[in-house]
Amino acid sequence: MSGKNVTEVRLADLAGIAEAARILESGGLVAVPTETVYGLAARADSADAVAKIYAAKGRPDFNPLIVHVAGLAQAERYAQVLPEARALAQANWPGPLTMVLPRRADAGLATAVSAGLPTIALRAPAHPVMQALLERLDFPLAAPSANRSGFISPTTPAHVLASLDGRIAMVLDGGACPAGVESTIVAVRADGSVEELRPGPLQLGTRGGGESIEAPGQLASHYAPGKPVRLNAAAAAADEFLIGFGAVEGDITLSASGNLDEAASRLYAALHEAATAPQPRIAVAPVPDEGVGRAINDRLRRAAA
Ligand code: TXA
Ligand code: MG
Repeated sequence: MSGKNVTEVRLADLAGIAEAARILESGGLVAVPTETVYGLAARADSADAVAKIYAAKGRPDFNPLIVHVAGLAQAERYAQVLPEARALAQANWPGPLTMVLPRRADAGLATAVSAGLPTIALRAPAHPVMQALLERLDFPLAAPSANRSGFISPTTPAHVLASLDGRIAMVLDGGACPAGVESTIVAVRADGSVEELRPGPLQLGTRGGGESIEAPGQLASHYAPGKPVRLNAAAAAADEFLIGFGAVEGDITLSASGNLDEAASRLYAALHEAATAPQPRIAVAPVPDEGVGRAINDRLRRAAA
């Protein structure tokens, strides 16, 4: 036990948010609720603070972070916001949309935040706790998902503790994240074209360029529950924990009624439960590849890889 630090879980009331702000101002790490998943936040303008994120997650240094801003005005300080990007922000921020944009030379943020790339990923989150936090800070927050690199993403404070307990100062408890899968990421090119780099809760009608490694975090194996995962299963084998959907019942279900939004909101909790179940293997029922189902299948494929 020696040398193990304590991670405090605090309710995201006014006092909790004030304490989180104090820790962030002094360069510490706080896990914060967003509408998608819990993020592991640090001040994006400090190289030391950003380095702590990579260390706590065990994240490879070539995998850049998303910088969270209060809104469009703050985004303009760090990136060249092209007209197409401005229109997307006006229509979808605050919300689960991350835009990869040309990084401004005078951004004044840690180089490591975008892993030395000429671009930067920006998102204005809709969660009221994150908004309250960003409004009282005079810097933006770098925040990847609050899990050890490669493991299952967190949608509750307990999920955060499952992999980061003792590695971070505090978890700000805002309850379960409503959307449940990470933001949709798009790159907005200099010519105004928009390419989807990661499917998410928001459907923009732009299909991605396939398995592009351009969002370097989109590695084949990710979200791994530490057991073999079999997809498109109609029934469980004797040694499998089955995650159901619709007519496939399972040990637990993503959505008995076949509702994809509900399935997305339960996806990571189901994988966390499957990871700790006695069965040595996991099977997952088929999920339709439409709407947010594309994001669910994307994450399931990586969990199975
Ligand atoms: O919903 C979300 O996006 C959550 C919450 C906390 O906001 N965050 C999240 O962060 O999912 P993370 O680090 O788990 O995923 C960020 C993704 C990675 O795939 C990374 O490679 C990509 O964004 N990314 C970041 N900056 C990029 C850039 N400049 N160019 C391309 N991809 C970038
Ligand atoms: Mg992640």
